[in-house]
Formats: sequence, structure tokens, C-alpha cells
Amino acid sequence: MPVVAVEGRPRTWAAHTPSSTYVLSAEEDGRVVQWYWGPRLPAAAVAEVAGDRVSGRFASGFRPDDDLVELLPVDGGRRWGVPSLQAVYEGGVRSVELTFDSAELTAGRLDLVLLDPEYGLRVVLHLRVHDDSDVIERWVTATATTGPVRLLRLDSGSWPVPESADPVYLGVAGDWALETQPHRGPLPVGETTFTSRTGTTSHTANPWIMIGDAGEEHGRVYGVALAWSGSWRLTAQRRAEGEVAVTAGFGHDGLAWDLAPGESLETPPALGLVTDGGYGAAGRAWHDYARRHVLPHPREVRPVLYNSWEATWFDVTEDGQLDLARRAAELGVELFVVDDGWFGGRVDDRRGLGDWWPNPERFPDGMGRLFDEVRKLGMRAGLWVEPEMVNPDSDLYRAHPDWVLHWPGRRRDTARNQLVLNYARPEVREWALGWLDRLAGDYRLDYFKWDMNRSFTQAGPDDLLWIEHTRGVYAIMDELGARHPGLRIESCSGGGGRIDFGMLRRTDVVWTSDNTDALERQRIQQGYSHLYPAGAMSCWVTDSPNPITGRRVPLRYRFHVAMAGALGVGGNLGEWSAGELAEAAAHIAAYKEIRPVVQHGRLYRLGGRPGAERSAVQYVHEDRVVVLAYNPFTDRRQAPWRLRLAGLEPEARYRDGDGRVWHGTTLMEHGLAVPSWWASGDDYRSDLVVLTREP
Ligand code: DGJ
Repeated sequence: MPVVAVEGRPRTWAAHTPSSTYVLSAEEDGRVVQWYWGPRLPAAAVAEVAGDRVSGRFASGFRPDDDLVELLPVDGGRRWGVPSLQAVYEGGVRSVELTFDSAELTAGRLDLVLLDPEYGLRVVLHLRVHDDSDVIERWVTATATTGPVRLLRLDSGSWPVPESADPVYLGVAGDWALETQPHRGPLPVGETTFTSRTGTTSHTANPWIMIGDAGEEHGRVYGVALAWSGSWRLTAQRRAEGEVAVTAGFGHDGLAWDLAPGESLETPPALGLVTDGGYGAAGRAWHDYARRHVLPHPREVRPVLYNSWEATWFDVTEDGQLDLARRAAELGVELFVVDDGWFGGRVDDRRGLGDWWPNPERFPDGMGRLFDEVRKLGMRAGLWVEPEMVNPDSDLYRAHPDWVLHWPGRRRDTARNQLVLNYARPEVREWALGWLDRLAGDYRLDYFKWDMNRSFTQAGPDDLLWIEHTRGVYAIMDELGARHPGLRIESCSGGGGRIDFGMLRRTDVVWTSDNTDALERQRIQQGYSHLYPAGAMSCWVTDSPNPITGRRVPLRYRFHVAMAGALGVGGNLGEWSAGELAEAAAHIAAYKEIRPVVQHGRLYRLGGRPGAERSAVQYVHEDRVVVLAYNPFTDRRQAPWRLRLAGLEPEARYRDGDGRVWHGTTLMEHGLAVPSWWASGDDYRSDLVVLTREP
């Protein structure tokens, strides 16, 4: 039983994961507190930590003696920290006073019911663990029972982080075409907030933080992530006296959710993970969790995809797509995706969004012929859609101007010439599901690339839509999946604007970034890899010079960077030389050999700042090891490079591509010598090394 009641202490429980233990209790005063979160404790030791408080600590009129230990600190009572729950009751009363009501313990799950009887608020703290993951899932349900309750904040929970002398945080931040840039540094005293107010996960931050004092492969790391694809806020508090806690939840400041009696609000899960073994082990544990409990089809290998966007932009024609499809098939591509520009009057980004039928001039007989041909070429068929958006210049907007986010009497500002449809409205959801379902059925589609290209603004007519919109997107994706079991969905939001564990639950792959410059991609991919698995990371090889950065990078290097995830091609194949096409076909064939290792394997970042200096990434799966090594800038004065591998069996022997056999220990401690010519001559050296464990 992974969650057990602790004997000898009332209302105290221990949640055990394979390598960690979490001990909590509901105290007499109504607080639910954490006593321990760390490496797994023997059952008998749990009682030793439960209730074991450092005594004699000075409390003052300005702070309590045990700050930041609660799982859901409320705005109320004698508290001064960041509240995870803030409510306003009838008459404007604000101070929440919860008392313990009951607990329900079932396999792997604990539900603690707390009540504020006077004003009729019921709060349930949920906790769930799995027997094959160290990730702990926690979420909250709040219900108004007898009177109306206005919620100003309902986080999924607060996570007290056990003290370390000098806590360091790791997170990612960025921008469009510059997503998931790793940021690391001392956790400041005070409140450090990462947030999105965009209505999506956002390009500017991603809802997770890791705290510890660790290196890549050593040291303890505490991680908290939020499985949510709308606006969010995550605040890490560090008190000057040492305590640290992270509270994370959906919505953002300034919103209010009104619950009438009988109504509830349930949060998305916040996920907590403690690991030893540095950021590397933490990442591998998150990837395992994603594969075991999040991704909808984790055992599949992702097909090699072709996407037409960077080849044609909006200039989509039937003949042009057919030509690209034939060229892509010859390279060994397995899935052909038609991007933006196929529908309504969509010949540029100023019109047509919302009119989801084939453009009558570009596809006078519909798209059946194109997709039939794609299938005859042996590929699966995919289509780009942006179901949450509308251009004012569209039949949809002319018919339903009230379907967009707006406040009465206020401007409706466009961004990328588009407005956001309000998925909180049932008729909008019904409309979207209707045409998506028809497209998937009529064309027997295997794949949707579901895009979302602007942030929310002027988001009326009520605050609940910030949550209901995201729920609507989830509901439609879930229903599409149920109606079309073979359909796979890619999540895209102008690149990587909506990547999170909520989205990964219903999509198989994410478009990592619109930035396809191999050099800049390396850093983006590194930041992504801290939480999310390589098998879901869509990476395309596109043209050189790169359309965003203008940088010229050799085809081999571009392929080797894209082979670190789910490989795709997005270049204008009509302009590739015969030599380039032959080289591309060889890389794709090589990728198909290694992709189970890359997509399902254990990932080790072998060091170096990706894209800025020589670096390598390694994957281990069953008996195979794949290393992708990069040296973007050659310099003869560089010290010799030995690639010390990781995660191998020390006693086992591994055969390399030349037939040489090495001990695991040799590869890990002495390392593979990278030839010295890698340091001289042309920039952009890269290699793919495959090793197989001897039986
Ligand atoms: C943004 C996406 O990230 C691109 O890949 C492409 O699909 C465009 N939208 C199309 O408008």
C-alpha cells in the first residue's frame, strides 16, 4: 500500500513511492502539515518523523514558529505567508478557518476533507502516488456548501521544501522562438514568482521549478510542476530564516471565481518529486512519469514527419503539396502534414481563420485526392488546425461576433490579426468538435497539428473562462481521441507556447519552437529535456540559411540536432540538391534504427553548454546506447575531448560501430576519445555514436 496511516499518531499518513516518502498529518487546529519529504523511510521510521518538531523556536507577534509547513496555507488565521487558498464569504468576510472533517484512504490515494462550517466551504486535499514513479500528485477541490463563496485563489497546493544551506533553483524562461532557456541561481530570499497571464502555458515561463544544491549527476533535487495549460502562477518563498515552500496553481491574480451553493472548483494536479542524482536523475524520473502516467500512447514510436510550413508558408496548393509529398516519401518520411493555408480564404494571416473547409480555389475538389495520394505513397496524413481562433475577416466571425473573448463596450484588440474564441461557451465547443470530427473522419486523418497563436486579452465575459477555456480544449481533444482512436495530436502554440503535463496527457508530441536554427535549438531542447521526454519533442530539419536567424548550418549538424527528439523535416525539398536529398535519406534511415533508444530511452546530458560549445546527449534503452555529440565552433587550442558516458553497466561490454568492444567502466570513467580533427577546420562537427551491449 503506497499510502498508509501512521500507527500511534492520529490523522497522520505516509505516502511511499519507490524511492521517496512523504509524511503528512491533519492537526487539531485544522492545518494539514508536512513532516517529511525525502528518500524513502523504512515503515518503522515514519513514526519517528511524524510530529517531530524542532522545539523552542522563537515565535513573535510577527511570525509563527513553524512557518511554511502547510500543504494548503489559507488566507486566514495567524499566517503571513503566500496563501494557496483565498476566499471571500458572504458579507465580505475573508478569514478562512478550516477544521479537519474526515479522511478517505484507498490504494495509492488519500483524500482529506476539511470544512469551514460557519461559512459553508468544503475543501478536499487529494494526494495520489503510483507504485512505479516517485512523482506525487496533489490537487484540491473546493465546494460551496451552504452559502456563496468567492474564490480569489485556489492553488493545487503548497510544497514545503526541506531546508538546505544554499538552495539553488532551476527553471526555464524565454520568449517566442526562444523557449525553455534554462535559468539557474541562488533562490532569492523573498518570493520568486514564475507565471503566465497569457491564457496558455506561455513561451515566457514553464510551470515548474527545481530546488536543491545539485549538479548534473549528483545532489538532491526537489521539483514541483503544474499539469495545466492555461494561465498559472508558481511562487517559491524563501524565508530569511531558511524555510522554503513552493505554491503552484492555475488562474492568475485579479481573478475571482464565484461558487454558488453546491458548486465546486477542482484544480489541476501539482506534481512533486524528490530525487538524488542531480538534475539528470530528476529529468529521467520526470520522463518516466510522463511515459508511465501522462502520455496517451507512450509505447509507440513517433513517425518521421514532413511539415510543409517553412517550405510554402501560406502558398499552399494541391500540386505543390503533392510534389512535396512525393519528395518526402522518397526520403523515408512516414507522416505528411499540411500546415496553415489550406482552408477558407486563408491566403495570408489576415483572413480565413474559423472557416474550416478546404479553400475552394486551392482545393476545388476537396483534399481527398491529396490525402489519398499521400497514403498511396505509404505515408500517414496530417493537417494543421487552429481551432481556438478566428480572424475578424471570416464567415465565422461575421456569423458569431459574440463567440470571441470580449467585454461589452470594450475594444477587441487583435494579435496576429486574430481573436480568441471562448471555449467556455458550450456552442463554441460543439462547433469546434463538429468540424474537427468531420475533418478527421472524412479524410481519415492520422494527425492534427493543433496550433494556438495568440495570448488572451480583454478576456470577458467572466473570470471563469480562464479555466473553462482550457478545460474546453482538453474536452475536445479527449473526445476526438475517443472517436478516432488512431488519431494523434501535436500541441503547438506558436512553437512551444503550450507545453506542460496537462497538454501531454492528450497529445503525443509538441512543437518545441518555431526556431529551427540547429544551434539555438540545442539550448531550447536542453531546457525542454529537464522535464519532458525526448519522444514527445518534435524537431524538424529545415533550410539553410535558417529563415528566423539567417544562420547557415550544415545538413549533417541540422539532422543530428533534430535526431535528439522526434525527427521531422520541414525544408523546401524542391530546392534541396540531389546530394542533400541522398544525405537526408541516409540520416532518416539511421534515425529509424535508433529512434526507440532516443524516444523511449533514459537521457543523460553529458555536459557542455549546448549550442555554445562542445556538448553531447546520450540515451540508453534496453541493450543499446546512442550518443549525439556536437562541436559547433572548432578551435585547435581546445583540450582533447573525451566523452565520458553515463548510465551503463560497469561490468558489461559494449560494442561500437567499428566492432571495438569496451567495458562499461571504461566508457564511463575513461571515456570515448573524440578525434582531434573535430577541433579544427570547419565549424559544426557532429556525430552519432551507437553502442550495443554484448549479450
Ligand atoms: C505557428 C506554428 O508554430 C508554425 O509551425 C506554423 O504552424 C504557423 N503557426 C502557421 O501559421
